[in-house]
Amino acid sequence: MSAVLMPVVERLIPEFEKLKKRMPPNFESTLVLPCLRRVQDERGYVADEDIVALTKYLGVPRMQIEQVLSYYTMFRRKPIGRWHLQACRNVTCSMRGSERLIDALGRKLGVRPGQTTADGRFTLSEVECLGSCGTAPVVMVNEAYHENLSIEKLDELLGRLS
Ligand code: FES
Repeated sequence: MSAVLMPVVERLIPEFEKLKKRMPPNFESTLVLPCLRRVQDERGYVADEDIVALTKYLGVPRMQIEQVLSYYTMFRRKPIGRWHLQACRNVTCSMRGSERLIDALGRKLGVRPGQTTADGRFTLSEVECLGSCGTAPVVMVNEAYHENLSIEKLDELLGRLS
């Protein structure tokens, strides 16, 4: 008999119930953000079936979930590579050479921002301020910040990512 994989939201419901208990009644809509974060942690992105399941579970309109997903750039709607490189292109990083870094990253990986390498290892994204302007330019790799980056440091960084 083959094992049937339980849908992500269904699997997370015991965890969501604990969150719910900390909220006053009828405040389910405030759970949209933490629930989406957990779904993304589990799946790597938020799939359409997760949105449908959350609208039913939380009793919120789909539009409310879509608004949260489109407002916060941390949320992804499709699978990404093993390493997600998010390069800041905002003012301070730009003044400190982020365009050159992003161009170099694109050339080295053979992708443009928004794309994933054919082997599924790297996804390159351009993002707005990562909140670390004092150490610009900054590239985030998954959850880790890499600061004061140069082309040379970029080579070292890519070499360390397996
Ligand atoms: S402008 Fe790049 S971290 Fe703020």
